[in-house]
Amino acid sequence: MSQKYNNLMDIIYERKSVRKFDPAYKIDRATIDEMLTEATQAPSSSNLQSWRFMVIQDDETKKNIQKFSFNLQQIETSSALIAVIGDTEAYHNIDEIYHRNLEAGFIDQVNMERQISNAKALYPNAPFEARLNIANFDAGLISMQFMLIAKAKGLDTVCMGGFDKDQFAKQFGLDKRYVPLVLIALGKAAAPAYGSTRLPLEDLMLQPANNK
Ligand SMILES: Cc1cc2nc3c(=O)[nH]c(=O)nc-3n(C[C@H](O)[C@H](O)[C@H](O)COP(=O)(O)O)c2cc1C
Repeated sequence: MSQKYNNLMDIIYERKSVRKFDPAYKIDRATIDEMLTEATQAPSSSNLQSWRFMVIQDDETKKNIQKFSFNLQQIETSSALIAVIGDTEAYHNIDEIYHRNLEAGFIDQVNMERQISNAKALYPNAPFEARLNIANFDAGLISMQFMLIAKAKGLDTVCMGGFDKDQFAKQFGLDKRYVPLVLIALGKAAAPAYGSTRLPLEDLMLQPANNK
């Protein structure tokens, strides 16, 4: 799929959450896979890439998700729903990820073994909540990246946390290690985004505490 925008600033300012898509607009799976592959260039904690995806395009499945979601219109009219799911056991891929770096010539054997041993000491022993927190953060980065990529291609998105995550996991038979985090509706806008403002930067600046 060709680019509509090339300038990153245009993409950043043009991306807005769209809540009504053209239901007749189809996006083929290869295009979505290409966008997801591009999105996976996002950084992640120790490069463990704890994001997992489900791509939902059929109406029947979308209807089922609507039953436990507060976002009826955007789900119904979207061309696809991307479920971004956190893998709280992404550490199972430690060996593969670091060996790939070795094969690509990015790291030598000694450093690879050191990194593998550090990662294996840290992640499997971390509490579930800590691993979920990491997966959540990684998912946020890849979701943002995906939404900007979609915008660059002239598509629109809305990120949604408003759905019953337990129901989602149940419906798709997800193992407990996989935690649904957000759904991203993807499609062609049929109505403009509501528009939204941002707080001025000075409201966002915290002053370092004076400990004297
Ligand atoms: C983690 C997250 C969850 C969100 N959940 C929902 C949602 O359930 N339904 C919805 O309509 N919008 C949802 N949004 C979209 C926000 O409301 C929207 O990003 C915000 O109002 C700013 O508007 P903009 O995206 O158009 O700039 C969510 C956004 C994020 C980042």
